[in-house]
Amino acid sequence: MADIHREKILILDFGSQYTQLIARRVRECHVYCELHPFDMSLDEIKAFGAQGIILSGGPKSVYEEGAPAITEELFELGIPILGICYGMQLICRHFGGEVVPAGKREYGHAELAVKGVPGPLFEGFFVDGKSSVWMSHGDHVATIPDNFEVVAETGNAPVCAIQNVARKLYGVQFHPEVNHTPQGAQLVNTFVRKICGCAGQWTPGKIIEDAVARIREQVGSDQVILGLSGGVDSSVAAALIHRAIGDQLHCVFVDNGLLRLDEGDQVMATFAGNLGVKVTRVNAQQRFYSALTGVADPEQKRKIIGNLFVDIFEEESNNITDATWLAQGTIYPDVIESAGAKTGKAHNIKSHHNVGGLPDYMKLKLLEPLRELFKDEVRTVGEELGLPKQMVWRHPFPGPGLGVRVLGEVKEEYCDILRQADAIYIDELYRSGHYHKISQAFAVFLPVKSVGVMGDGRTYEYVIALRAVETKDFMTAGWYPMPYADLARISNRIINEVKGVNRVTYDISSKPPATIEWE
Ligand code: XMP
Repeated sequence: MADIHREKILILDFGSQYTQLIARRVRECHVYCELHPFDMSLDEIKAFGAQGIILSGGPKSVYEEGAPAITEELFELGIPILGICYGMQLICRHFGGEVVPAGKREYGHAELAVKGVPGPLFEGFFVDGKSSVWMSHGDHVATIPDNFEVVAETGNAPVCAIQNVARKLYGVQFHPEVNHTPQGAQLVNTFVRKICGCAGQWTPGKIIEDAVARIREQVGSDQVILGLSGGVDSSVAAALIHRAIGDQLHCVFVDNGLLRLDEGDQVMATFAGNLGVKVTRVNAQQRFYSALTGVADPEQKRKIIGNLFVDIFEEESNNITDATWLAQGTIYPDVIESAGAKTGKAHNIKSHHNVGGLPDYMKLKLLEPLRELFKDEVRTVGEELGLPKQMVWRHPFPGPGLGVRVLGEVKEEYCDILRQADAIYIDELYRSGHYHKISQAFAVFLPVKSVGVMGDGRTYEYVIALRAVETKDFMTAGWYPMPYADLARISNRIINEVKGVNRVTYDISSKPPATIEWE
C-alpha cells in the first residue's frame, strides 16, 4: 500500500486568518500537509521531512519588536519555500532585503503586472502579463535581497512577487489561498507539484485505505464504542471504523427528542439498515423533556442536555462490557484549535462540540480516525464510504439541537411544531436550489402567540422565525438574500401545513452583532 504521508508540505503559521485556507488548497492538490506554529524547532522541522514549506501571512510587521520570528536555519535545508505576505517579507529580511510600512494599507483586489522573467512557479499564472489577486497588507518590500528577482508589481507596490529560481525560494505579497485570487489555487498546485515534486497521493480512496489499515492495527481484536449523533463527523467516523473492523464496533445513538424531523429513523435506516452497523437506539426523548421542564436559560439548557447525554451514553456503554476503545469524530480543525489553546496561539475558529466528552473514569482509549481531515475531506470520504449525499453535505447542527432553537422552555409540543416547520423550510431550499448556496439554514420556534385570521375566525398562535446565513468560518456571517417569491412559498406552506403557527418571519440580522443561533 502506498504511504500517503510520505509526501508532505509543512505550513508554518504566523497568525493569518487565512492559514487554514492554505492547508485546504494544498490538500486539494491531493498532497498531505500539516499546519504548525511559526516557532517549530529546527529539529522538529527536520524530523517532519517536508517536500516543501509554506510560510503564512500574519498580522504583525516583520520589523516590529516581538514579531514572530522564524528558525533561520530553515533556509539552509535546501527545501523549496513559498512565503505568502508576511512570509515573503521574512524571506526578504533574512536575505538582506528591506521591508517598510506601505504608507497606506492595501486591502482587496489588485491587478498584478509581470516584471522580469517569471520562473516555473508562475507558469500559467499571468494572462497577457496580468493577473488579478487579493491583497491584505500594511507593509511592503522596498529593496529585494541579492540573488532574488522581482516578478510582479502593482500600481501601489513595486515588489509583489519575488524568486530565487536556483534555490527554489519564492515569495508573493498577495494571497493565493483565497478564492478572490482566481489563479491562486493553480499557483499553490504548481508549487506543490512542480517545485516540490509531489505526485499527489492524498485521494479519498487512499485516505480510506490508509485509515482502515491504521484502525485495524491500532484496535486489533478489541471492541470499540461510538456515540452516533446523526451529525457528519460521527457518521463518517462510524462508517470508516465499521469498514475496518465490522462487528467489533458498537454504536450508541441517543434520541434526545431534540433532533430534526425523522432524523432518528434516518440514522437507523442508514447505519443499521443499509450499512449493517451494530447500533443501539436509546429512546430517551421523555427523559430529556422532563429534565428540561421549567428551564428557560440557554446555558442551563445546554448543560442539562450535555450531562444527560453523558449519563445515558455511560449507562449504555456499561452494557457493552468488553469495549476498551471510545471512538470520536474529532477533525483537523478541532486538533489545531486545541493545540492553539495549549500554546496560547488559539486560532479564531469555533471548536466543534463533539458528542462523547466522557468522564475520565471510563478509562477508554481514544480512537479518532478523522483527526487529519478537514470538513470537506470528511464529507468526500463519507460519500465514498456510501453514506447518503444529503447526510454528508448537511448544514451544521448544534449538539444541543432543537434545545437551542426552541426559545425559552423546551416542550415536546414546541419541538414537534418546530420540526415540521423546519422540514418544510429545508425541503423548499433543496427544491429551489438555495440549500447548497447557504452555509446554514434552520427554523426557530418563538414561544409567543400573536393574533391572526383563518376563515371567519380569529386565531392566536405561535411564530416561526427563519434563519439563513452565508459564512466561511461561522465567526462572522451575513443573512442570505432569499428571493421574495421563495419566502412567500415557504411562509404559505408553513402556515397552511403546520398546526399552531400563524406567522412566519425572516431574520435579516448579521453576525455580529447578532449570532447565528437565536438560543
Ligand atoms: P453562533 O450562534 O454562536 O453559532 O453564531 C456559530 C456556529 O456554532 C453552532 N453552535 C453550536 N454547535 N453546540 C454546537 O455543537 C452548541 O452549543 C452550539 N451553539 C452554536 C451554530 O449552529 C453555528 O454553526
